[in-house]
Amino acid sequence: MVLKKDKTVSSIVVSLVLGLTPGAFAQGIPSLKDTFQKDFGIGTALNPAQFEERDPKTTEFIVRQFNMATPENVMKSALLHPTWDTYTFEMADKLVEFGRKHNLKINGHTLIWHSQLPGFIRGIRSADSIRTFFTDHIKTVAGRYRGKVFSWDVVNEALNEDGTMRKTVFLQHLGEDYVTEAFRLAQEASPNTELYYNDYNNEKPAKRAGCLALIKKIQEAKVRIDGVGIQGHWHVGKVPLKDIEESILQYAALGLKVMITELDIEVLPRNFQGADVSQRMANNAESNPYPDGLPDAVQQQLAADYEALFKLFLKHKDKVTRVTFWGVNDGNSWLNNWPIRGRTNYPLLFDRNNQPKPAFYKVIALKQ
Ligand code: G3I
Repeated sequence: MVLKKDKTVSSIVVSLVLGLTPGAFAQGIPSLKDTFQKDFGIGTALNPAQFEERDPKTTEFIVRQFNMATPENVMKSALLHPTWDTYTFEMADKLVEFGRKHNLKINGHTLIWHSQLPGFIRGIRSADSIRTFFTDHIKTVAGRYRGKVFSWDVVNEALNEDGTMRKTVFLQHLGEDYVTEAFRLAQEASPNTELYYNDYNNEKPAKRAGCLALIKKIQEAKVRIDGVGIQGHWHVGKVPLKDIEESILQYAALGLKVMITELDIEVLPRNFQGADVSQRMANNAESNPYPDGLPDAVQQQLAADYEALFKLFLKHKDKVTRVTFWGVNDGNSWLNNWPIRGRTNYPLLFDRNNQPKPAFYKVIALKQ
């Protein structure tokens, strides 16, 4: 008891000395959302176990660290819209209620994506039916959460690496204007919700050029787009800082908010970059090198990478409105199961017990 009291008092003293809000250090561990309160929102991806509040300590931890959240899976069309005329909103409703109850702004993810589509889409052959699905889906889902979510990733991952349009079922049947049309429908269904385009590797020059062209096309059609998400699935020691900075500048020059929407830094071997979920890698003796812990040299590189990234985000805090981590802690990360199942990855700021890693303290120290 006495120890707890002392800890609280010293936390407040430390936070005052560092110029942070006292809340940032309450409970001993600084709070990301409090530390960056004046700079940008701090988000996380959430899964059902978390937003169903199965463990009160986890809830407490999430609510202390984050002020924005994105559903990792439950708002994708395969889960929301399993058959042609059925919607299952139960889990998405719970997520939205979690956000309301704990004061986290929800970013809906995602209305139109070629991946995690309902199985029945494969049986559709006619453009008319795809258009009906596309229109009904956006109207129904965006309409249901009108006024309840802060923002939507309206379209996700519509581009190839060379900046051309990805050949999806939507491009095939609806033509290139489907992206603009998705934003138009989302605006009608949910007029006061921020609307974003979201992709990975769209900080790289060729894909960025395609992304800029796509945004301009939407704007030229006089359709509203509020922001662009750079997902931020990067690799330790190889974070493309110059490309990221150039992208922040170029997207912001179009009048858009810029968000880092799915941040994690992969530390395991990978023979390609990006986050195309259809790509896989073969398992071999070297593919899971750190099952018992991250070597110090890698831990330090990870910390240096996060420090450099947040330094950059702070430099452009007038343009970057949110930084969302793709998972609460290393144990929740999708990177434990992709592109190879069952690896032990360490891509986030908190370890498997929600303890801060060196990278966390480097990030916090930027505000000292
Ligand atoms: O729910 C089923 C479960 O019933 C089944 O037993 C299990 C066996 O495979 O699969 C479970 O579904 C998995 C689902 O995540 C929920 O855990 C899927 O197999 C798995 O493919 C799916 O992965 C998700 C992936 O998107 C799929 O596209 C990841 O969790 C999620 O982190 C990832 O998120 C994407 C973003 O939406 C868009 N950007 C890239 C990012 C990373 O891929």
